[in-house]
Amino acid sequence: TDGAQLPILVIGSGYGGAVAALRLAQAGQSVAIVEMGMSWSQPAPDGKIFCNMLSPDGRSYWLRTQTAQPVSYFLGAAFDKTIPKYTGVLDAEQFSQIRVYQGRGVGGGSLVNGGMAVTPQQQYFPSILPSVDPAEMYATYYPRANAGLKVNNIDQAWFETADCYQFARVGRETAQASGFNTPFVPNVYDFNYMKQEDITTPGFGSIGGGSAVPRSALNSEVIYGNNYGKQSLDKTYLAAAVATGKVSITPQHVVTKVTPAAGTGYAVTMNQIDTSGNTIATKTVTAQKVFFAAGSVGTSKLLVTQKATGALPNLPTSIGTGWGNNGNVMVARANQPALPTGSLQSCIPVMGIDNWSSVGGRAFAEISPFPTGIETFASLYLAITENPNRGTFSYNSSTGGVDLNWQQAWNQVSIDAASRIFDPINVKQGTIYRTDLFGFFKTWGDDFAYHPLGGCVLNQSTDNYGRLQSYPGLYVIDGSLIPGCTTVNPFVTITALAERNIENIIANDMK
Ligand code: FDA
Repeated sequence: TDGAQLPILVIGSGYGGAVAALRLAQAGQSVAIVEMGMSWSQPAPDGKIFCNMLSPDGRSYWLRTQTAQPVSYFLGAAFDKTIPKYTGVLDAEQFSQIRVYQGRGVGGGSLVNGGMAVTPQQQYFPSILPSVDPAEMYATYYPRANAGLKVNNIDQAWFETADCYQFARVGRETAQASGFNTPFVPNVYDFNYMKQEDITTPGFGSIGGGSAVPRSALNSEVIYGNNYGKQSLDKTYLAAAVATGKVSITPQHVVTKVTPAAGTGYAVTMNQIDTSGNTIATKTVTAQKVFFAAGSVGTSKLLVTQKATGALPNLPTSIGTGWGNNGNVMVARANQPALPTGSLQSCIPVMGIDNWSSVGGRAFAEISPFPTGIETFASLYLAITENPNRGTFSYNSSTGGVDLNWQQAWNQVSIDAASRIFDPINVKQGTIYRTDLFGFFKTWGDDFAYHPLGGCVLNQSTDNYGRLQSYPGLYVIDGSLIPGCTTVNPFVTITALAERNIENIIANDMK
């Protein structure tokens, strides 16, 4: 409520915010979380909380009137469709040369992501976060994060026979034929639930000829939310935080301003919005401590704006720098007719192709589902690559918005690295790239990112634990701390770093 006096305010309810709220509450602190997106807890009139990828409606996108699907073409024709403007769960935020996808709602990115929970190999950790002790991370904070996130592994015997993973087996077979390693990757999706979605699983399914439980991963649900099966943050960290009785979560409030309060602490201004995005109230609260957990883009935008408008003028000049896209590029191959990928595909990826040791161009590619409901013979991949280019956020005084100077051409390094995996596979298989999925005769999906990282880099814009040192009581605790790349999918690293930092902050700043 307007005028409230709070000990601790957390801005954003993704990984960083959820870890901060739980650990602070367990240490006896009262915590208020504000989140710009909705609380995705009530079913719509169709009985479902979320819509699926085959029939997107207003619930799919954040305040858009047309979908912005990552794979938005088929046979070269655009198939985005008109939707009602609504505070949907997936934001496709357009900067001048890159579209950055982000989750909106209580749970942040965990609501829309593929759940791939990958701990990077320890030998590469110094390149990810050079100022952080790897021994501590791998002994304590990665295990803590994996436990808190409820990470689990697929039953490999089931994987070998399940129809819904034929696409992954084909991805594996074609990669291994060219000599690549194809590790299984853990996930937060409950694999026991998924087994029951599959009517071919012995002992499961076949209630009335259908699956034993309502389908989610097997019903083309993922980037617009999963109705069942996915252990997103609202079911793990945030549920545990609320269960302490010390944490409140207020959705549909967009923070716009943070500035020192007249007495002690910080005045935080926010707009309460309706489901069309209109402001229905503006409120200011005072908090003694504020955690920025609005994600790489959200936190960077907020801090760059506060510095430029004089609300927090003493923030360091490095604020807004060091942004990267985790080297994300997408590509698809057309398989031979003898290698169909299946008309039923689980939306939860469970396997990758690891070429990170290739110094010529490091890449880790997730074997992604392409759940169209029909046989496409296509193999789709999201590659994570080593890309040294870094973008900078800057305040635009004429629009009042924040720009990002990332250039699409900078992705050529990533395309080259991914090509070192897929060119040899195509040669060996006698196959070609699909050129009809990302445009008309366009091979690479190189104009969007799923994994924004950086903008407020650890040990540069903050101290080595996320403190904004020129403003005691202000902290950053999300993906903006990580300088541009994690070598694999990022949320386990974001969570583990937040676990490390909050432990230090609780021990030293909360006495
Ligand atoms: P995160 O973005 O999770 O949370 C920030 C929250 O703050 C959001 O809920 C946002 O609405 C809110 N917020 C922002 N500005 C605000 C403001 N001004 N006021 C109030 N609230 C505000 N990663 C991975 O490891 N494995 C995977 O399989 C995938 N797959 C994947 C698929 C897709 C489609 C996407 C979009 C992303 C992924 N990711 C992923 C990436 C992963 O989801 C991402 O790295 C994390 O969610 C980032 O966590 P953070 O805590 O940094 O921010």
